[in-house]
Amino acid sequence: MATRVSDLLSGLAPSATLAVDARAKALKALGEPVIGFGAGEPDFATPPHIVEAAAKACFDPVNHKYTPTAGLPELRDAIVAKSKRDSGLDVSANQVLVTNGGKHAVATAFMTKLNPGDEVLIPAPYWTTYPESVYLAGGVPVPVLSDEANGFRVTVEDLERARTDKTRMLVFVSPCNPTGAVARPDDVAAIGRWAAEHDVWVLCDEIYEHLVYGDATHVSMPVVTPELGDRWVVVNGVAKTYAMTGWRVGWMISAPDVMNAAVNYQSQTTSNISNISQRAAVAALTGDLSAVADMRVAFNRRRRTMTTMLNAIDGVHCVEPEGAFYCFPNVEGLLGRTLGGRAASSSAELAEILLETIKIAVVPGEAFGTPGFFRLSYALGDDDLVEGLERFADLVAAG
Ligand SMILES: Cc1ncc(COP(=O)(O)O)c(C=O)c1O
Repeated sequence: MATRVSDLLSGLAPSATLAVDARAKALKALGEPVIGFGAGEPDFATPPHIVEAAAKACFDPVNHKYTPTAGLPELRDAIVAKSKRDSGLDVSANQVLVTNGGKHAVATAFMTKLNPGDEVLIPAPYWTTYPESVYLAGGVPVPVLSDEANGFRVTVEDLERARTDKTRMLVFVSPCNPTGAVARPDDVAAIGRWAAEHDVWVLCDEIYEHLVYGDATHVSMPVVTPELGDRWVVVNGVAKTYAMTGWRVGWMISAPDVMNAAVNYQSQTTSNISNISQRAAVAALTGDLSAVADMRVAFNRRRRTMTTMLNAIDGVHCVEPEGAFYCFPNVEGLLGRTLGGRAASSSAELAEILLETIKIAVVPGEAFGTPGFFRLSYALGDDDLVEGLERFADLVAAG
């Protein structure tokens, strides 16, 4: 019998992080006292000056029409200026494509670069979208496990072990979703030199660049690794920095020939991104970084609280994250133990037990290529964060 769905899409996994978040929100809507640690988005509103720019744009008929596929010229210029300001990256506007969020930029980058069978090294634990996106583009995702004892920072040795003559690209994300790991500047340069030496292109996902804490700093690989030449694609967006996840504006930056192909692809798939959102993004990028500075203070406080509370639970161990807004604790010590009258044999089952018994939603490590862990977002109110973790601690203490 002919299948009703293509083989390609039959083989595509759904986004586990969006699913956990949707389930938590649905239970909450039914009146359940659910505390969601699944969200991958700031719990703050978009700053008013950005919203005002969008509201104004709605009344300007210019924005009611199609605009250039690659993005509004003002926004591409703002992305050029922002890249220079924030990471010292020198690019020109014809190297910038505005996309429907960073996720769309990731998909477009793989679609633009990969041929069937090309291998892409993806450090694990990985953001759940990367392997699926590689798969959709005809490539082969190759997870490269990073060491928990090394703070989940991938090393040149890890990458070299996974390299074959089919390796075409490396995904490099720092700060990392889901672990919160931030690569040291020297390691960024070393990994960049390794990629250059083996002619491996690097997709640098810089979406969490401004969310670093303590002594951690973000550096852009193309800036610290001149040897890489133009063999890189930078992906970024306004979602995490300006609390704009719902506005759907991201971008990719790469060499002009790569960009020509990417713009061509976008011209046949989405055309331009919503003009209203693009105008909002112009206001965001040409404004200052005070909103993210304020969010960083709150996230840093919650990061410390969450790490401390998790490590106080018998059977849980959490490396202190240095960036983004996630903790990634090891929960293997809880497997096989009776909790709330049930014993879990995997982190996925354990996550189910937590949702059903104490109404807290976490994303199991299975979604990130590493069973035995949980991802908990600390982008939620301080009181909810503490209450949710107290429920977890009480459940474990009660056995
Ligand atoms: C590592 C990483 N890259 C890219 C994105 C894409 O963000 P958006 O599509 O909302 O711009 C996300 C969102 O969760 C992310 O975690």
